[in-house]
Amino acid sequence: MHFTTLHEVEDAIRACTKCPLAQSRTHAVPGEGPADATLMLIGEAPGRNEDATGRPFVGSAGKQLEAGLARAGLTRGDVYITSILKCRPPNNRDPKREEVTACTPWLIWQITLIKPRLIITLGRHAYAFFQKHPPFREALGTLYHLEAYDAFLLPMLHPAAILYRRQWAEAYYTLWEKLPHILKEKNIPLRGQKNQLTKHNI
Ligand code: URA
Repeated sequence: MHFTTLHEVEDAIRACTKCPLAQSRTHAVPGEGPADATLMLIGEAPGRNEDATGRPFVGSAGKQLEAGLARAGLTRGDVYITSILKCRPPNNRDPKREEVTACTPWLIWQITLIKPRLIITLGRHAYAFFQKHPPFREALGTLYHLEAYDAFLLPMLHPAAILYRRQWAEAYYTLWEKLPHILKEKNIPLRGQKNQLTKHNI
């Protein structure tokens, strides 16, 4: 399969039957946000509210995500939000290896078409898809470069983590507060990255 627009990929995800999660889902959740976003946020998998609505991060984890974004002076409309799995695992169990294998070609298409400058992984599962070392806890809040996607990687805590462990809230917000400095230092605009690049190239 070949895709030339993000909409084509999102439609194909909604119709996907590549793994058994297609049978138990209500809606697949492709992701949402501007096609020219420079920031891409990647979570783990849809939960109950996301499955019911077909939209990413609309439940209580979504509220925490929006609170984190606000600490960085951002709103969800500024970023593209998606996840490793596009369908909800029963009872929100961890993604299985074969589900990740079946589903992540969609994520790679999304990255290829959006061409984000910075990928923010939310939680250990999304981090593990991009790199195995250093371990997640050590990597949190450190900026890496992903050669394969010509993008930076910033591993963050999953917003749901602070719902279960309030003591992580401070670390969570501190990580988000670092983001504006990273964007400034790496000269990453919020939108219109492609236009800016063209301007520079002329
Ligand atoms: N957790 C995720 O990783 N994604 C969602 O959309 C909701 C919760």
